[in-house]
Amino acid sequence: MEKVIEAIQQAAIAIRREIEGVQFDYAKSQNASGEQQLKLDLMSDEIIAHHLAQVPSIKAIASEERSQVQELNPGGAYLIAYDPLDGSSLIDVDLSVGSIFGIYEGAFEGGNLIASVYVVYGPRTELVVAREGVERFILTQGRWIFKESLALGERGKINAPGGTQKGWYPHHKALIQSLFEEGYRLRYSGGMVPDLHQILVKGGGLFSYPGTTDRPQGKLRKLFEVFPFALVFERAGGEAIDDRGRRLLELPCDDLHETTPCFFGSSYEIQRVKTFYQTR
Ligand code: AHG
Ligand code: MN
Ligand code: MN
Repeated sequence: MEKVIEAIQQAAIAIRREIEGVQFDYAKSQNASGEQQLKLDLMSDEIIAHHLAQVPSIKAIASEERSQVQELNPGGAYLIAYDPLDGSSLIDVDLSVGSIFGIYEGAFEGGNLIASVYVVYGPRTELVVAREGVERFILTQGRWIFKESLALGERGKINAPGGTQKGWYPHHKALIQSLFEEGYRLRYSGGMVPDLHQILVKGGGLFSYPGTTDRPQGKLRKLFEVFPFALVFERAGGEAIDDRGRRLLELPCDDLHETTPCFFGSSYEIQRVKTFYQTR
């Protein structure tokens, strides 16, 4: 496992270097979710695949930018699913983006996720690992320095509501509105990595990406985005559920690129989600 995390740390340093370059235009291709790919999406994917391929304990890898699983070492113990560059539509305006990794044993399913890692490329480069606890590292002069453990409080002050408002269902509108009426503040950049990182570092809040009338299963992908952050939130003392109140990590995953409505937060806000979604 240590070798997997070291490979991710090295890949993140290389991706950071690419992000700082002048190349942030679109490629001519689309990914398996039908999204236009940036050259940086493809470069980040190649960098990660290259670094993970050096680790003998990795059996196979799956990427948001690839339609198929890539087999590496038949005798390996770990399966890695990753989103090489999350929030890449924010690259042109120079907002923070990230990379997300889920480390699975056995099969690509929420219940088999044993650790996850995300990287934030912001003014600093930071990396968060969820194993037993959740640890935050900062990249300083080419080295990853442990900063602190992250833990969520009982409730926070941040409301990060994703999805097109025009397509929100009435119970979802009511939930979001009620949090604002309680004094929650809007914090939503459009990159789930910095948006969720903000909630973790500030100690609480709610990030939601619901099902909408135009996208009943939401936008965020189980393997590459949802499961890894569900583990981070649970290990930090928070919760991560779907629109039926089920733990995200207990959901089946029948297709590599499958999506689900998702809610990540501290316990108070998740209780509010359950209350409003019961009324639908
Ligand atoms: P990606 O760049 O990997 O395709 O993911 C973008 C995701 C996620 O980061 C973010 O929370 C969400 O898309 C934003 O979607 P909206 O623009 O619909 O809010
Ligand atoms: Mn993404
Ligand atoms: Mn991506």
